[in-house]
Amino acid sequence: MIVSIESSCDDSSIAVTEIASKKVLFHKKISQELDHAVYGGVVPELAARLHAKALPDILEQTKAYFPFLKAIAVTNEPGLAVTLVEGVIMAQALSISLGLPIITVNHLYGHIYSLFIEKETFFPQTILLVSGGHTMVVDAKGFDDFSVMASTMDDSFGESFDKVAKMLGLEYPGGPVVEKMAAKGDENRFDFTVPLYHSQKIAFSYSGLKNQVRLQIEELGEARDDQDTADICASFQRVATAHLLHKLKKIFKTRTIKDFAIVGGASANLYLREKIENLCGEFGANLHLAPMEYCSDNAVMIGRYAIDAYHDKQFTACLDIRSNPKVFKKTIL
Ligand code: KG4
Ligand code: ZN
Repeated sequence: MIVSIESSCDDSSIAVTEIASKKVLFHKKISQELDHAVYGGVVPELAARLHAKALPDILEQTKAYFPFLKAIAVTNEPGLAVTLVEGVIMAQALSISLGLPIITVNHLYGHIYSLFIEKETFFPQTILLVSGGHTMVVDAKGFDDFSVMASTMDDSFGESFDKVAKMLGLEYPGGPVVEKMAAKGDENRFDFTVPLYHSQKIAFSYSGLKNQVRLQIEELGEARDDQDTADICASFQRVATAHLLHKLKKIFKTRTIKDFAIVGGASANLYLREKIENLCGEFGANLHLAPMEYCSDNAVMIGRYAIDAYHDKQFTACLDIRSNPKVFKKTIL
């Protein structure tokens, strides 16, 4: 078995996975969303203190598995340095006390492996990773063979939902709440422009759209009612998604894609899922998704990646924490 630890942002999560069967034997996640909600975003120092309390509480519940463990897996990059260190220190302490090797896991590789929870690994796939920290299209050819084909030049897809929610005075995290409000709104009421529409660049940008939303909110001012808010959410979600679709279509046109996947916290968005399902249908590709409960951050996906890393003997003595590593190879389309 492998015990895996995730603390890259605001979720404290630990899992135990059986290596041979890939079965998830234990998983617990303590989310800090409510603690950060009052600030409208994650406060790193507060997140670190909450991890320091939650992680040992969860680990305590995994003690019965200790005699069966073969390795300790931990997210060490990318993320908030002060929160990553909480998981990494725990991994190091466990490694010393139980005499077990450590497998360090890149959080984004973990999201990719959320596709394979309790399943066989399956490559090649072209993967859209949409989370709070990242928006990228990845050419995933095999274990550890991931290249970035396109990424955001500024804000990420999920982050733009969080920022729009904050400007509208809605809760954190913004993704689920904006999606819920959007369902009650008119997506054609506000004519926000699709970012980089006339640019040949295969890249993403969300800061301009965020500003368009800000100007609209300012224009409505005090008179803004719930219907206006719902219409802004719907119009924003339509354009944010249209931007992804527009660039993805260009990628689909330049290469044959048989298997396409969406991963990351924002892949839970049903509006986005439906649009991508249609795109895959148009190009004859199969769409793969992670189970809904494993779209957002969790230690199960970290443990699942660690199984393949274990077979590849990717153990480490070096426990560097890297907030923003350059781990992906670049692919020029
Ligand atoms: O993968 P994740 O849990 O954490 C990071 O690695 O960043 O993703 C969290 C992000 C947040 O920005 C959140 O607002 C967004 O995913 N998100 C969504 C939805 N659910 C979560 N964005 C859009 N629609 C959703 N339904
Ligand atoms: Zn994540």
